[in-house]
Order: sequence, then structure tokens, then C-alpha cells
Amino acid sequence: MSQTYLYIQNANEVITVAGYSEKPATKERMNELSIIKKGSVLVKGDRIIAVGPDKDLQNQFASEISEAKTIQAAGKIVTPGFVDPHTHLVFAGSRENEFNMRLQGKTYMDIMNAGGGIHATTRATQEADENQLFSESVKRLNRFLLQGVTTIEAKSGYGLTLEHEIKQLEVAKQLDEEHVVDIVSTFMGAHAVPVEFKENPDAFVDIVINEMIPKVAELGLAEFNDVFCEHGVFTPEQSKKILEAGLKHGLLPKIHADEIEPYEGAELAAEVGAISADHLLKASEKGMEQMADQGVIGVLLPGTAFFLMAESANGRKMIDTGVPVALSTDCNPGSSPTVSLPLIMNLGCLKMGMTPAEVLTATTINAAHAINRAEEIGSIEVGKKADLVLLDVPNYMQMQYLYGVNHTSKVIKAGKLVVENGRLI
Ligand code: NIG
Ligand code: FE
Repeated sequence: MSQTYLYIQNANEVITVAGYSEKPATKERMNELSIIKKGSVLVKGDRIIAVGPDKDLQNQFASEISEAKTIQAAGKIVTPGFVDPHTHLVFAGSRENEFNMRLQGKTYMDIMNAGGGIHATTRATQEADENQLFSESVKRLNRFLLQGVTTIEAKSGYGLTLEHEIKQLEVAKQLDEEHVVDIVSTFMGAHAVPVEFKENPDAFVDIVINEMIPKVAELGLAEFNDVFCEHGVFTPEQSKKILEAGLKHGLLPKIHADEIEPYEGAELAAEVGAISADHLLKASEKGMEQMADQGVIGVLLPGTAFFLMAESANGRKMIDTGVPVALSTDCNPGSSPTVSLPLIMNLGCLKMGMTPAEVLTATTINAAHAINRAEEIGSIEVGKKADLVLLDVPNYMQMQYLYGVNHTSKVIKAGKLVVENGRLI
């Protein structure tokens, strides 16, 4: 029997999220998942070759199915592999001490301004060698995979010198090569103004623009360029210069926008033609409209708002305004140490007024668009990579209703079974 074919048979619901590979889903289309009841998926090698009602596939592909390894999906749902489009995956150490301080009234920015926060993780990451960074990150990546994530974006930004930024990006590259989860890299040298540049942040901006961006681009270590545009970190003017410099070197702009205070980050994202603007807790209405006009994806991170005990971004309003919305963990040691994208979906429903259908669109095809991968992943369509998740629920709404549970039963990555019975294999 050949193992070339894989046949995932007779799921209660195959959630295809089909039809949005060219343009992300917006408005009411975010609610349209193109569900196939009693559906099956046929995979050849690493590709999806057929998807439809089980009966149809049995008629049309009888000989391929007779050769295939079959996975029974009765009673379960099948979704595209989940995509997390915003993480700070590669870092050393942890910051539970700061969590404790925040629970006693200190704010995230107080801690950062006193030399903790991002600076604390930068010190730990600078001190760590590549092996340590790799092994700490692999643990997180395994946990992402166990919860159905098959592609993840990872940012640098805890090196803050050319040498250490490259070290972080090299680790991300090694993870991409050695781990089954695919990693897409973003350079984020402008994550914080290093303590030694506190009195002269423009000198650091010059280093990011003139030294770091050209080298990272030359080495081919990143596809995107991100900046923390926030009061007390990088101004909109500095952010604009940094994002435009990245563009000159082929790095597409992303932006941490309007996270803690309103700062016209959403407007800047629209102005520079960013692929996404992320966070947006304090985004203005005008900013949202401009993002909708320009098709800038709003990557919302309700875990960060939850963990910082802040009010979430207005996901409902963004969708209704026409912003294509994606969801992400923001996995990082300070503002969102979670590795659970399903929890983020739960929060999308419960804290941002999104429907169970919208959160699935936001963690599949729209998330794939946010990292420029929508032609390859994010939906169950013929020709796409066979990244699939089997979830032990009878319908997609139950995934959100039974919240706080990992419903992942099996994960198929590029046509290979990599998680079974909730375990890595
Ligand atoms: O997306 N806001 C900036 N960066 C991260 C937090 C990084 C950290 O605290 O270590 C974020 O929230
Ligand atoms: Fe972030």
C-alpha cells in the first residue's frame, strides 16, 4: 500500500474557508466559512488534491482512495492548519516577576521605562547562545503545534544590536528548517530604544536604518520589518523612516500600532501601505477607515489586552468598518506569554464580539494574508499545502463554546501526520 495518498474521511464539517486566497475576507464574508458537511479531504504528497462531500470523492477518486492511508474523521471537524501571524517566539528567560509587579499596580510602561520589560528580555537574549535560544523556542513551538498551529510568524527585537538581532533571526531560520512548523521571519530592530541610546534615540534609529536593515535584507533573514510605534518608544516620524527604509530593501512594513496610547499608528500603517497593523487597542475611527480603504490587515491580539488587564481592541467595529481582521497570540515574555491560539479565538469571541466563524477566518486565511502566504496556506482548497487540523468537536461553534480546552486531536503538516491523540509523533 502506497503512503502517497492520505484520505481524511467523513468529517462532520470540513471548514474550508475557501474563496479568499486573492483578497482577505472582510465584513460579512468573514462569517462565510464554506463548510462541507460529511466532508472528506484527499491529499497527495504535501498537497490537497480534492475536497468535497465524502460520497463525491468516493465516486471520483476511487482508485486513489483505495491506495490511501485513511484517517477517520467521523464526529470531528477539519480546519485549515492555524496560522499565527504575530509572535516574538525567539527569546530567552521569562518575566513572571514583572507580572507580579503589574498585579500590584505597576504599569507595563513603568516597568519598561525603569529598564525592565523589553530591556530585561534583551539582556537575557543577548547573553544566551543560539543553542539556548533554540531549545527554549522549540518548547514553545511544540505547544503551538499541539494546538493546531502549522505556520507562525516570528520577530526579532530582543537583540537590539546587529550581532544579536542576526543571532535571533538565525535561530528562527534554524527552527524553520528543523521543526515541522513553518516560520516566517520579521526583523524588529526597532522594538525598543536601547537604554544606552535613551538620550539620543535618533542615533539608534540611524543604526537600524543604515546598518541593521541593509544587512538583514542582504542575508535574506527576514521578509517583514516591524516597529513599536508608541508614546515613549518610537514616534510616528521615526517609525515612518524605519518602515520606508525597510521597503527600500524589500522588507514589507508591519507596525505595532496604538497599543497603549492613541498615536495615529493605524493612520501611519495606511500611509506607508503596511501589510498589517497590529494591536490597535487605541486605534482611532479615522485610522480604522483608512486601514479599510488601503486593505491593511488588522492583526488583533486580545491575549495581550487580557494579560495587561486593558480593554481589548474593538474587533467588532473594525470588521464592520471593513478592516480585514486576523488574530494572533503575540506570544512574548512580557505582555502575552501564551502559546494558545485557541484561547485567543475564545477571547476574540468573548472580549471583542467576534463570531465563532469570524475567529476561524481570522486565524486561517486572513492570518495567512497577514504574512503573505495566502496562496499557499490558510484554506482547504485544491493545490494548497496539506496543513490540516482535526478537532474533537461535532461543529465549529462548539470549539468556542467549550472554551479553554484544547480540542486538537490530530494535526497534518504538509501531508504528514504530526500530532495524534493530542500528542506529537
Ligand atoms: O507586542 N509592544 C511591544 N512588543 C511586545 C511586548 C514585548 C515584551 O514585553 O517583551 C508586544 O506587546
Ligand atoms: Fe508584539
